[in-house]
Amino acid sequence: MPVSVAPSRDGIVHCRCFVIPEYVRTFVWIASYRPFGAHRISVSEEGAFSSSFGMNIMISAPELSHRASLMPASPIRKLVPLGDAAKQRGIHVYHLNIGQPDIDTPVEFFDAVQSFKEKVIAYGNSQGIRLFIESLQEYYDTLSIPLLYDDIVITTGGSEAILFALMAAAEPGDEVLVFEPFYTNYNGFAIMAGVTLVPVATQAEDGFHLPSREEIEKHITPRTRAIIICNPNNPTGTVLGEKELHDVRDLALRHNLYVLADEVYREFVYEGTATSVLQIEGLEQHAVVMDSLSKRYSLCGGRMGSVISRNRAFMEVMLRFGQARLCTATLEQVGSAALVASGAKYFDPMIREYRQRRDATYEELQNIPDMLCRKPNGAFYIMAQFPVSDIEDFAAWMLTDFSDNNETTMIAPGPGFYATPGRGLNEARLAYVLNAPECRRAVELLARGIEQYNSVHRKD
Ligand SMILES: Cc1ncc(COP(=O)(O)O)c(C=O)c1O
Repeated sequence: MPVSVAPSRDGIVHCRCFVIPEYVRTFVWIASYRPFGAHRISVSEEGAFSSSFGMNIMISAPELSHRASLMPASPIRKLVPLGDAAKQRGIHVYHLNIGQPDIDTPVEFFDAVQSFKEKVIAYGNSQGIRLFIESLQEYYDTLSIPLLYDDIVITTGGSEAILFALMAAAEPGDEVLVFEPFYTNYNGFAIMAGVTLVPVATQAEDGFHLPSREEIEKHITPRTRAIIICNPNNPTGTVLGEKELHDVRDLALRHNLYVLADEVYREFVYEGTATSVLQIEGLEQHAVVMDSLSKRYSLCGGRMGSVISRNRAFMEVMLRFGQARLCTATLEQVGSAALVASGAKYFDPMIREYRQRRDATYEELQNIPDMLCRKPNGAFYIMAQFPVSDIEDFAAWMLTDFSDNNETTMIAPGPGFYATPGRGLNEARLAYVLNAPECRRAVELLARGIEQYNSVHRKD
């Protein structure tokens, strides 16, 4: 046992112990049975135990769970300290790394919150407040998706909807298919739920569309419980076509799998429209939608989402998960009910604005020699292949070593959007969430950065 015991000249026994907690427990237990009588054991801030008979035991902090050690840092946020340091040096950082829209949250939200007259911000119903759920029913009605009241459970953002859905669909150790590159936080949610994500590759050359049904089927095993789709997609901007959705449906029915559809970017389509899994015939018991107001109404900090399914048993579980965390924020639901009830009037101007941003960003990217990307049709991201050998290093270097006219650009490195090691090493996701001139400038900075970076770090 890695514990050292050294009697000192004053007769006090000093023990030093840098061991895992199980050993420490054993040791303290033995100590308390020594013939010194009963001992008080206290813990100092440094993690030093001392007992009433003068014994000092140094211990390390308790071990973390295996799950905790697996939890990845978000590639979207991990460069933030470097960005903050650049800002402290007086450099303006264009944030293309995070999907935070700069569009104003509509006034209906604030008006409703300000008109709230209750004297207590009380717990709401675990399913969500009636006004908000009914407004969502009406919203879905306008999309020709009739829903019952109990088909909807309000969640704390789309994030909680994803976690709830994964935990209900799969046992720890079960597998869930996901098309990579994928929204990086699925990794974290899968770890929390103990679920294994099985990546199915999509390729830039195919516009990141789904591979054939046969190819997808090769990844299905007896442990597969669900297929995640993200439509429109973050990070690729790809919008799935009917044929792809029908392929997913056929596989789900053949293998009895849930289809967990992340549709938080539903309105962000620049040519055509996105089809919801709730519109696909035959999937009534299999389709689960994870939805959010974060992007649709520029309400990211409101943390308002929902999980939606016509599968009764599934929704009963969603409600029980909801009951365990009591409810979501009451005031934000009040504001959101008014927001959703305001209808679609904000969508058209918003999509026009994002189309301009996409076009500006894409055009500028086209001007960079050897930069490869497709023009995306949805969401507000472009996944681009950069002419650099190590995107993680380049993205950090842009913040630590580069500036042009006191400006630089932050991007989200590609590897974090893949589960397969070695993929995405020269890719990055760009979020075109700034106005068109700023997007152009941000990409121009990338162009200059690439030139300088490659003159120092030779590209293979
Ligand atoms: C694809 C996708 N799903 C879910 C979320 C989570 O959204 P929310 O802010 O509602 O938790 C995001 C946020 O960026 C996203 O891009």
